[in-house]
Amino acid sequence: MMKLYLIILSCASMCFSTCGFTDIVYTNTASTLSNDPKELYIDLIKKTVANTIYEDAAIDSRIGVQGSYSATLREGGLDWPNIAHTMIGVKRLNNVHACLKDILENNIPGDLIETGVWRGGTTILMRAILKAYNDETRHVWVADSFAGLPPPNRRKYPKDIDLSSFSILAVPLEQVQANFQKYGLLDNQVIFLRGLFKDTLPSAPIQQLALLRLDGDMYESTMDALVNLYPKLSVGGYIIIDDYWCIEACARAVHDYRALHNISEPILDIDGMGSYWQKMNDI
Ligand SMILES: C[S@@+](CC[C@H](N)C(=O)[O-])C[C@H]1O[C@@H](n2cnc3c(N)ncnc32)[C@H](O)[C@@H]1O
Repeated sequence: MMKLYLIILSCASMCFSTCGFTDIVYTNTASTLSNDPKELYIDLIKKTVANTIYEDAAIDSRIGVQGSYSATLREGGLDWPNIAHTMIGVKRLNNVHACLKDILENNIPGDLIETGVWRGGTTILMRAILKAYNDETRHVWVADSFAGLPPPNRRKYPKDIDLSSFSILAVPLEQVQANFQKYGLLDNQVIFLRGLFKDTLPSAPIQQLALLRLDGDMYESTMDALVNLYPKLSVGGYIIIDDYWCIEACARAVHDYRALHNISEPILDIDGMGSYWQKMNDI
């Protein structure tokens, strides 16, 4: 009996070595990640909201889920993800991170806002960065119709774009709140402004902003956010325009507003899609 047991054992060990289970495989590359726990947390949040981990497919809103995941497209925010909580891509998430890091390290006063949040991923990142930096004073304002883009006002803005038929851009408030909750980041530092910007922003009880991120695509949505919020942006704070290089109507609103207020800070490129500048002069 003992002999049989030994034979079985030695057969098993032969099988393991021939099947390669005892191979030692070394990795040559060093990790490029920071060793700072707060940076590690923020890095993981970015990968999660953009879903570069599980790599969901891009969607075409007219024909449903299609195609495969492309790391290049997701990096540049060039696809509309089926599942990920943001469509802005890794490079523009990195830009939000860099601006907010500078704001926090230099004590630039004010809250943070995104106008046009879709599934909420970018604002989830903002809240996560405040958490990582142990900032318990600033608020993240989450402004959206939560019903998609409005039809253009052709009388007032004849050349505006029309994205109102894209039902995929309509994400209900409850779903965005649930997305925050999944990260454990739905708390009293997050404030939702539901409605069209023209109705919510003029009376929103926002005192001062350090970060103003515009992602409403249209001329009207961009202009409404600029008129109501740029005067509240602190000197030293940042304005980010997600669609500056890719939606002409959006860029036109930025140019018109800058011309009206003699804003001369250089417009900096993020990734060929979005732009930003640091406010140096009060208006
Ligand atoms: C391109 S999506 C924003 C993407 C988002 N920033 C992200 O991280 O994935 C545009 C959003 O702007 C909202 N929106 C555009 N114009 C608006 C307006 N005038 N008032 C309210 N919401 C608006 C839409 O409902 C939509 O959720």
